[in-house]
Amino acid sequence: MATSTFSFSLIILLFSLFITSSHSQSQPQYVLPQRYFINCGSQSSIEYTGRTFIGDENPTQFSVSGGQVANNLASNTSIYQTARVFDKKTWYELQADGNNTFVMVRLHFSPFTFNGINLSNSTFDVSISRFALLSGFNVGDVPVVKDFIIPIGSETSFRVEFTPGSGSSPAFVNAIEAFTTPSDLFRQGVSVPSVSPDGDTGNTIIVSSSYGFVPRYRINVGGDAIVVERDTLRRTWVPDEAYIFASQAATNRSGTPVFTSAGSSSTDAPTDVYRTAQELTSRSVNLTWSFKVNSNQMYLLRAHFCDFLSQGLVDPNAGFNFFVYTHHKKVIQPGNIVKQPQVPFYVDFVVNSVASESLNVSIGAISGNNQSVFLNGLEIMELVENLDMADNGGSGKKSNKVYIVVGCVVGGVGLVLVLLLGFYIGSKCGKTKPAVVAKPDNVVPSYGRSSYTSINMDFTMNHASPLPNLNLSLRFPFADILHATNSFDEKLVIGKGGFGKVYKGTLPDGMVVAVKRGEKGHGQGRPEFVTEIMVLSKIRHRHLVTLIGYCDERSEMILVYEFMEKGTLQDHLYGENKNYPKLSWNQRLEICISATRGLHYLHTGSDGGIIHRDVKSTNILLNENYVAKVADFGISRLDNVDESEISYIKGSFGYLDPEYIRCMKLTQKSDVYSFGVVLLEVLCARPALDNMLPQREANLADWAIRHIQNEKVEAIMDSYLVGTINPNSLRKFLNMVERCLKDTGDERPSMIDVLWDLEYALKLQQMEKEPLYEDSTMNTSLELPMSMIHRLPSNSINNDSSVNDYSVAAASYPSESQVFSQLNIDEAR
Ligand SMILES: *[C@@H]1O[C@H](CO)[C@@H](O)[C@H](O)[C@H]1NC(C)=O
Ligand SMILES: *[C@@H]1O[C@H](CO)[C@@H](O)[C@H](O)[C@H]1NC(C)=O
Ligand SMILES: *[C@@H]1O[C@H](CO)[C@@H](O)[C@H](O)[C@H]1NC(C)=O
Ligand SMILES: *[C@@H]1O[C@H](CO)[C@@H](O)[C@H](O)[C@H]1NC(C)=O
Ligand SMILES: *[C@@H]1O[C@H](CO)[C@@H](O)[C@H](O)[C@H]1NC(C)=O
Ligand SMILES: *[C@@H]1O[C@H](CO)[C@@H](O)[C@H](O)[C@H]1NC(C)=O
Ligand SMILES: *[C@@H]1O[C@H](CO)[C@@H](O)[C@H](O)[C@H]1NC(C)=O
Ligand SMILES: *[C@@H]1O[C@H](CO)[C@@H](O)[C@H](O)[C@H]1NC(C)=O
Repeated sequence: MATSTFSFSLIILLFSLFITSSHSQSQPQYVLPQRYFINCGSQSSIEYTGRTFIGDENPTQFSVSGGQVANNLASNTSIYQTARVFDKKTWYELQADGNNTFVMVRLHFSPFTFNGINLSNSTFDVSISRFALLSGFNVGDVPVVKDFIIPIGSETSFRVEFTPGSGSSPAFVNAIEAFTTPSDLFRQGVSVPSVSPDGDTGNTIIVSSSYGFVPRYRINVGGDAIVVERDTLRRTWVPDEAYIFASQAATNRSGTPVFTSAGSSSTDAPTDVYRTAQELTSRSVNLTWSFKVNSNQMYLLRAHFCDFLSQGLVDPNAGFNFFVYTHHKKVIQPGNIVKQPQVPFYVDFVVNSVASESLNVSIGAISGNNQSVFLNGLEIMELVENLDMADNGGSGKKSNKVYIVVGCVVGGVGLVLVLLLGFYIGSKCGKTKPAVVAKPDNVVPSYGRSSYTSINMDFTMNHASPLPNLNLSLRFPFADILHATNSFDEKLVIGKGGFGKVYKGTLPDGMVVAVKRGEKGHGQGRPEFVTEIMVLSKIRHRHLVTLIGYCDERSEMILVYEFMEKGTLQDHLYGENKNYPKLSWNQRLEICISATRGLHYLHTGSDGGIIHRDVKSTNILLNENYVAKVADFGISRLDNVDESEISYIKGSFGYLDPEYIRCMKLTQKSDVYSFGVVLLEVLCARPALDNMLPQREANLADWAIRHIQNEKVEAIMDSYLVGTINPNSLRKFLNMVERCLKDTGDERPSMIDVLWDLEYALKLQQMEKEPLYEDSTMNTSLELPMSMIHRLPSNSINNDSSVNDYSVAAASYPSESQVFSQLNIDEAR
């Protein structure tokens, strides 16, 4: 099956490589798009606030489903002299580029009298892309601009829909602006701590794709009003004066923000917001702002900071208090978050107002700490659910997992995350490993860009101490690495990620290798580097990627691996590199079997066993013959290490064992869970977590299990596979996947069981060509013949060949197909 025709397929060793859209360094400067600026009810274009608004009478780039043209020549603003009036549900259909981003929509309403009807009196609803954004909206007497931010996912068009209230005057609109924002305006998959007036709720919420945003307040603290022309995203910001509740000793300050990849960008908030601040001048009072909000409503609260007050190096421990209401306290440590003064950043919270009709935030000093206390900006946005979600209640037991997951993205390691224990999901845990009770301060909120690396990984970065207990024979001189990679020739880069770059290199003896060079200040730190070397120099297996050497000279963190020509498994399923031919079911099973062998060896092969902790489709690499090898042992753990010192969760979104999250119980069965998700990726050819999908579909495991249990698996399968899989093989596979994804480790199979089942599924698939037995009298449960098979205890199986022998023997168990075939023949058609 493997041929050498895919010479372009050089992407390899993409260790944890997940080039997130928020990796700001590789991101081009955002430019406000040309589209859409629409002058409603007009044939002509008009310049207004720096943009050309195009008449909607004969549109070419969008469509309008109806409405009447109306004039209001009395208006003193040209754009408001025309409008489109709707006496029934009407929409504008606009195009989107489907790039998983957000659209900012700004609607202009300037009331007037139309055919004797006073439109100030109209009430109507507005929805955009299935988000109900305004309901029973009444413009009032003066012009109003309403803006919204909507996650647009992979949609290539969306509708702005107006529905007049029953018995009310018609709906109308004077102008529409709709343009895509930077895709990292809300960071994908990053969760945010949730706060109520009573304090921390203990939950974290992923807001990026689940909600529409209706901005309520944008405040330029300590500064003046900012009009649309001064904000790239055409937002307006107002001074904070009116909202200061307890006006204590504070003063306006101004300075110069310095934008770096460590913090937020000038599209997160305009430079003018970061340029001004209020600084608290007394260390014995708090400064409080109070905003009127609706009760029982969820808001995203985003606080913007830029410490231009501290000089020189900022002490990472210096900080001040930021309160949401009175009970939630977050210590803001600029030196820890962005490392240097003048670099802007923001911190997000989700606030549930519950019974309160105000949202209060305060800043205050920490005694004995001389960090200046300040605030630059605030945004408060109402979170609006998608109608699909609302229909569904969004309350399925399982679906909570998508929401209430997990802490902060560690920039460099892509989606590997590190979470200080933040929550307890209220489920049973073993007595020996009690759940850790949430402490508000321990929830890691999100800061600026995700290239902010976490507390746990970064502090060792600058130390270049010699590595302990490492296999020195694997140590390469830096000069050799330079030689192998032609001094890190950019042309040899075959992979890139938060950790740095991977180069294709050639050793003096002609051996082709992959050279992964950790970059300072990025992602994987020294602990991961050391772990990877320790693990890989200790074990060797046909299905684990081979470490050829490392280099730690000059505080470099370089790893040299065997070259894996065909890249990651993910690339072949749905990755960027669409040029790979589709894999057949046989090939997919063979790849899974190889990976299972590698993991089985990892779990049982060396003393005490090793837990990989980051099993995912980007960590399974394929060589030129499509032989799979497991890679990336940076966060793996020796099983015999005492757990007590571990107090944070590591792993990747979408693959994390729920029991591990709940109970901090990390076992080899956590890898089995993650591998179960990989098996679903193999079947369905989609990512483990896709936050651009509706909430119910975002998490692959939840979504697929639901379909499997409802016997609707064809609906989720890779369409390429439909009709090609022997139903018995599929059934065996699904049954095993379901067991891998059980809630508790005890219910999950071990890797050797998985191996056995995969081999069996392959066997059944290969039998396809042979005539199927038919036995209409047999309708026994599927599990019956399987349970009769006696298995060897898995701990007696430590190497590849005995595994092989065993599984061959087992797979030749007679005539299971007799049982299966009749049951499944109908489904196959
Ligand atoms: C136009 O009129 C509105 C009141 O209808 C007023 O608030 C606004 O300031 C005026 N704008 C200009 C540019 O004169
Ligand atoms: C969005 O995707 C299209 C192609 O699908 C591409 O041409 C365009 O440049 C992308 N836009 C952005 C902002 O990335
Ligand atoms: C329209 O109605 C609003 C309030 O209902 C009122 O304030 C306004 O004066 C009316 N406008 C006209 C032109 O009648
Ligand atoms: C507008 O509504 C107000 C109260 O809702 C009513 O008093 C007024 O008569 C209405 N005006 C018109 C023109 O319908
Ligand atoms: C701070 O600046 C704003 C805007 O320039 C101004 O309105 C306000 O009076 C200033 N406050 C103080 C305390 O100087
Ligand atoms: C600041 O506010 C917090 C929360 O309300 C409160 O606990 C603290 O005592 C206040 N500090 C001062 C100096 O008033
Ligand atoms: C918020 O501040 C206001 C004062 O503006 C106060 O009346 C209210 O009780 C505070 N709300 C909460 C929930 O603390
Ligand atoms: C804060 O205190 C440290 C030592 O405690 C001192 O070195 C530093 O200069 C102080 N910073 C300011 C801004 O006062």
